[in-house]
Amino acid sequence: MTQAQPPAILLRPGSASDFSFAAVAYFRAMRETLQRTVGSNPESQTALLLSLWDLGGIRIIVAAGRETGWIQIAPAEAALFIRQFCIDPDYQRLGIGSLVMRQVIDEAWECGAAVTLGVVKGSPARRFYERLGFRATHADLHHDYMRRDAAPSSAPAAHRGPDFDSA
Ligand SMILES: CC(C)(COP(=O)(O)OP(=O)(O)OC[C@H]1O[C@@H](n2cnc3c(N)ncnc32)[C@H](O)[C@@H]1OP(=O)(O)O)[C@@H](O)C(=O)NCCC(=O)NCCS
Repeated sequence: MTQAQPPAILLRPGSASDFSFAAVAYFRAMRETLQRTVGSNPESQTALLLSLWDLGGIRIIVAAGRETGWIQIAPAEAALFIRQFCIDPDYQRLGIGSLVMRQVIDEAWECGAAVTLGVVKGSPARRFYERLGFRATHADLHHDYMRRDAAPSSAPAAHRGPDFDSA
């Protein structure tokens, strides 16, 4: 997939038969983070993913007819919380992740909801989310938590209060 423009995307509900694809995409995309947290043992990594796998909130990201990643979204207080989000490395940096997040931001906005998430400290994904208008709100030992108040993805997000910076 080597086009200058990002491909059209479709988010379809996940099903039990998507687990193998989702596991491969997750292990490849999260390789460095997983090595730091649960180690490189495939059984530990699979056990972790099984503990996270909740079909209710999973959507498979199909771009130009190919499965490229998945996202898991859970309703939270007046917000949609991104529990997992990964694009297989073969399809990263093509703009697919930004298109997905814009779609999620717009869906949340239509319900008057913010979008929130936690990003592993030091992850390059933090810059990705900042570009989409997310701001850090708080942190724990391993994660920075970010929020984008309800607003269309095409508009700058209005934020209440100063940005939190864990640095
Ligand atoms: C974060 C992620 C979903 C973005 O998807 P994408 O389709 O590559 O996103 P886009 O092409 O729209 O944007 C690319 C930007 O994502 C970020 N990015 C690229 N590779 C990345 C990686 N391996 N990990 C995290 N962020 C990355 C960069 O900011 C990049 O911008 P740049 O090319 O100007 O440096 C994807 O890179 C990924 O799956 N990363 C690994 C898993 C992860 O960190 N998920 C987020 C958990 S909260």
